[in-house]
Amino acid sequence: METIHWSVDINVEKQKGYPQISEAADCLRNGHVVAFPTETVYGLGADATSDQAVQGIFDAKGRPSDNPLIVHISDTDELSGLVAEVSSTASKLMETFWPGPLTIIFNKKSGVFSDLVTAGLETIGIRMPDHPVALELIRRSGKPLAAPSANTSGKPSPTAAAHVAGDLSGRIAGIVDGGETGVGLESTVIDCTVTPPMILRPGGVSAEDIAACIGEVTTDPSLKKEQSAPRSPGMKYTHYAPTAPLYLLEGETEWIQKTVHRLQQEGKKVGLLASRELAAEVNADVISVCGSRNNPAATARSLYHAIRSFNETDVDIILAESFDENGIGTAIMNRLEKAAGHKWIRQRSS
Ligand code: TXA
Ligand code: MG
Repeated sequence: METIHWSVDINVEKQKGYPQISEAADCLRNGHVVAFPTETVYGLGADATSDQAVQGIFDAKGRPSDNPLIVHISDTDELSGLVAEVSSTASKLMETFWPGPLTIIFNKKSGVFSDLVTAGLETIGIRMPDHPVALELIRRSGKPLAAPSANTSGKPSPTAAAHVAGDLSGRIAGIVDGGETGVGLESTVIDCTVTPPMILRPGGVSAEDIAACIGEVTTDPSLKKEQSAPRSPGMKYTHYAPTAPLYLLEGETEWIQKTVHRLQQEGKKVGLLASRELAAEVNADVISVCGSRNNPAATARSLYHAIRSFNETDVDIILAESFDENGIGTAIMNRLEKAAGHKWIRQRSS
């Protein structure tokens, strides 16, 4: 299959009457799979009401069929046709954070979605992305769009069209290239079918901001443990992983340098994923800088690109700095823990 590449500047598109987005929307209406930018990461979209179209997503990604997909809409008016009820808590969240990086789990209306979207669950995750290209594409397709992140299953999510092409070129109908994404990590997933609502996946909207909006909110306790089954099916899979094994580090700068040297003496080529601040103080064979300790939003934005960049090198092992867990830092550490498969190297306290 030849993958069409639409390079879209939203202002130029608008002036011309959206020729490229319309073509991509036609593809979606005809049951094909098309990647598109959102404010979080690139999504791999298909008509959520069509079994055949949704099957195309699972085939292209190699995604396990028990992992449900998020459905993307362009207008809250569409919700009443898709979900069984909208609680007052969900309404508050939507008013505050939509369009934006928050996926809300509702009880689904039956007979609307392909069963493949929900993987047999009675609930459905919905979000309205805050990206003009995504919103125009959804509007023009006239369909709710099921869209997981547009990566091969298990790899880091794509934050640029080139990442999507690297993973999926030849396997999907097209890629709408709208430049680099903004947030860089996926949406927060919150289950509003339980009281109090529960965060199933930390992401672009922080737990602190959600609590400020609705009061009490909990976080799926299994996210902290490797063994127990998380409530969001996708959270149980190894994810976001580069080719070389990745370990999280906890310790002082001097110990980190010693750890690098020890591994090098064992004959290993060592990669280091570090903030600008740590990168300035430590040597390794390859250093990939992701943001700054003082700017977690910048770290989030560049994290997946930084992880992916090691795949173009011949490092044997990757060591990753750990970051403070507040605000978006919770999502950064969640993704790093998953990329590391929860493996840590810790400085022994003396
Ligand atoms: O930012 C995002 O959310 C991106 C962009 C493209 O919108 N999408 C995304 O989709 O990250 P995906 O499929 O990679 O991750 C969806 C997560 C998975 O962990 C899945 O298990 C969970 O949401 N999920 C979806 N529907 C669910 C449901 N009904 N109940 C519990 N978890 C659900
Ligand atoms: Mg994903």
